[in-house]
Amino acid sequence: MEKQECPVAGRMTDLVGKSASLIPTPALIVETEALEHNLRLMSGFFARRHAKLRPHFKSHKCVTIAKRQLESGNAVGITCAKLSEAEVLAAGGIRDILIANQIVGQDKLERVAELARQCRLTVAVDDESQVRQLSAALAGTGATVGVLVEVDVGLARCGVPPGERALQIARAATIAAGVDFLGIQAYEGHCITVLDPEDRRRQVLASMQKAVDTRRLIEASGLPVRVLSGGGTGSYDMTGLMDGVDEVQAGSYALMDHYYAQRRPEFAPALSVITTVISSNGSDHAVLDVGVKGVGADLGPPVLADRPEDVISRFESEEHASVRVGGRPLKVGDRVRLVPSHGCTTCNLHRRLFAVRDGIVEDVWAIEGSGCLE
Ligand SMILES: Cc1ncc(COP(=O)(O)O)c(C=O)c1O
Repeated sequence: MEKQECPVAGRMTDLVGKSASLIPTPALIVETEALEHNLRLMSGFFARRHAKLRPHFKSHKCVTIAKRQLESGNAVGITCAKLSEAEVLAAGGIRDILIANQIVGQDKLERVAELARQCRLTVAVDDESQVRQLSAALAGTGATVGVLVEVDVGLARCGVPPGERALQIARAATIAAGVDFLGIQAYEGHCITVLDPEDRRRQVLASMQKAVDTRRLIEASGLPVRVLSGGGTGSYDMTGLMDGVDEVQAGSYALMDHYYAQRRPEFAPALSVITTVISSNGSDHAVLDVGVKGVGADLGPPVLADRPEDVISRFESEEHASVRVGGRPLKVGDRVRLVPSHGCTTCNLHRRLFAVRDGIVEDVWAIEGSGCLE
C-alpha cells in the first residue's frame, strides 16, 4: 500500500503567504511580532548581567522557537523537562541541553549516554544512587554528562533539603567516572506566580537564598560550583539578579498565556487558538469547535481574545467550548480567537504552530516535542 502523509502532521506549507483566515480550525497560532518582542525583551534583560538565560523548551516544545531564543542572545543553552524532549532538541541541532529532572531507569540512562555523544548534556540528580547508575551507564562510552544537584527550596517537588545533604551528593558526583559535577538546580515554583510583585520578590529571594547558601557551603568544602540554575518567567528579574545565580530557566515568556499575562504584562500575548463557531442560538449562546483536547485546561478555561464581553461558560467537553455571548451575537462560521490559560499544556496538544504576521501566514512550525512525555 502506498504510504500517505499524515494530514494532521503535514506542515500545510501551501498556506504560507495566504490569509490566516484560511487556516483550518482549531489551530494554534503564534503572532510573530509579539514573539519577537518577547524574545528581545528577555534577552535584553540578561545583557551585561552575570546570569544568563537557559530558556525552557517545555513551554512551546518547538525547536524553531528554541533556536530563535538562542539566536536572540544572552542564552547559554536550552532547558527541557524530559529525555525525549532533549532527543528532539539534539536532533534539531541544539548543542547545550539541560534536562531539569532526574532520569531513572536503565533504558533511559542508556539513551542519556547515547545523547551525550551528540551534545553537551546536563541532568538533575537528588540521590547518590542516580549518580552511581548514571556513571555505570556511561562506563566505556567515552561520554560525559554534567550533573546539577537539585535542592528543594520550598516547592516540595524533587530535590534534597538545602545544606549538608546536597554537599554529600556533590561529593559523590565529583568522584563518579563519566559524571561532571557542575553545581545546583533549584526551582522556586511555589512562589514564582504570586500575584503581588513585591510579595513575590520577597518570597522568591528568600527561597533562592537557600540555594545560594548551599552553593557557598559546597564551595567552602573545596568543590567548585560552576552553575546555579533556576527561576522562570515570574522571577527572571528577581532570581536573575541574585549574587550566586548563573542561569534562569524561563520558558513561558516566549508565547505567554492568560495566567502569566496578569503577572508579566511586559510580555505580549503571542499564543492563541483560532476556532470556529459551529452552533449558535443567535443571541447569548454559541459553541466553538475546540475543547480540552485542543486547549490546556489545567489552569482554567481560555479567554476570548477580541471579545471582552463574552466568557467561556462551559469548558469540559473534548471538542466543544460554550460561550456566554455578552457582546455582538456570534453566528455559525464566525472565527473566534482564544487565549489559553496555560500555554505549556496547550502546546503539548498540538503538532504544528502557524506563525502569523499582520494576518498573513508567514510559516508553519512543527511542535516536535508535542507528546514527548518519557
Ligand atoms: C524546572 C523548571 N524551571 C523553570 C520553570 C519556569 O517556567 P516558566 O517560565 O513557565 O515560569 C519551570 C516551570 O514549570 C520548571 O519546572
